[in-house]
Amino acid sequence: MNSNSPSDSHSLRDGDSDKFEFTFEFYLDSRRRIESDVSPGPEHRDETQSLTESIYEYHKEYGRTYHAYRAGSYHVPNDVIEHERQENQYELIKILLDGRLYLAPLSKDPVRSPRKILDLATGTGRWAVEMADEFPHAQVIGTDLSPVQPELVPPNLRFEIDDGNEEWQDGPDWHDIDYIHFRFTVVSWADWGQMLRVAFERLRPGGYVEMQEPDCDIFSDNAEIPITNPLKAWFRDLRRAAALANRPIDAVPHLKQLFIEAGFVDVQEKVYKIPIGDWPRGRKLKQMGRLWRQNVADGLPGFSYALWNKWLDRSREQIDVQLVEVRKALSDKKSRAYERFFVVWGRKPEI
Ligand SMILES: C[S@@+](CC[C@H](N)C(=O)[O-])C[C@H]1O[C@@H](n2cnc3c(N)ncnc32)[C@H](O)[C@@H]1O
Repeated sequence: MNSNSPSDSHSLRDGDSDKFEFTFEFYLDSRRRIESDVSPGPEHRDETQSLTESIYEYHKEYGRTYHAYRAGSYHVPNDVIEHERQENQYELIKILLDGRLYLAPLSKDPVRSPRKILDLATGTGRWAVEMADEFPHAQVIGTDLSPVQPELVPPNLRFEIDDGNEEWQDGPDWHDIDYIHFRFTVVSWADWGQMLRVAFERLRPGGYVEMQEPDCDIFSDNAEIPITNPLKAWFRDLRRAAALANRPIDAVPHLKQLFIEAGFVDVQEKVYKIPIGDWPRGRKLKQMGRLWRQNVADGLPGFSYALWNKWLDRSREQIDVQLVEVRKALSDKKSRAYERFFVVWGRKPEI
């Protein structure tokens, strides 16, 4: 285990520039070069310290906190409430994927297993930690706008504060990557096609990208769920607000096509149905439905406040009234609602 706090300082390994470690300090230095708006604080702190501290100066609104680095880019909070929701969501997806962290055919052979793994928008970093344990020969990097990841992590994992919508970093760990992973990154990206094109460019030939994303709508195999259903309407509002905020979600059902257009081959798609509520018969589906209903309920205020207020022009009071109806709809077993979860992966051709 190893501490990855931003205040850690690493340096070039003695006389071995090939093994240069891309450290948080180096990252801050390089960011400073392209960010003219970062200047020393009034106490004449040095610039690195100033930027390091500013990423912790979270924006507070609606009784929640939001990321400070590239403030305003992401509209969902970064507080404990949201992290607990993410942790529960992680457990649910583990059940859904039968304990697997990924579906791409990554080799476990020590000679051919991935050496460089990137987890974009890592959140609490739980996936990255488990991936680093599963692939001890790999260097894993998890990036996010918020420095909310744990400090004690496997020695082959580090976290970096980075905006995936901006130009990706340089440095050896950011090129010839074996596997790039995205999970629950909806409402994060301005252009999914562009994310895939950049990921394609940064992969080594033969490397994989995998996206695991919900399409943020509800369906039923019984009968079409009408838009008068408050939960269906809430998801429509989410997609609408996200589009206005230039963080469109509509691409998720079309990810497979976007992978192909970006140049990936052997593109595979698996679409899971995650029940909302404990209406299914089977034990596993019932358990997932219960967990997912709770997860959606826990996420409602965090996903709604900033997006609805800033982009749908609704007051906090109006949002709270809407959420009362949405919570009621979450308990409706009759519609047998489910959400779709897309897992798509593709390989960069060898030649
Ligand atoms: C819903 S969380 C999911 C986290 C994690 N992937 C998981 O599955 O639990 C979305 C994360 O994306 C991060 N994020 C949003 N926009 C981003 C951006 N432009 N660059 C990097 N991270 C971003 C947020 O800070 C948040 O931690």
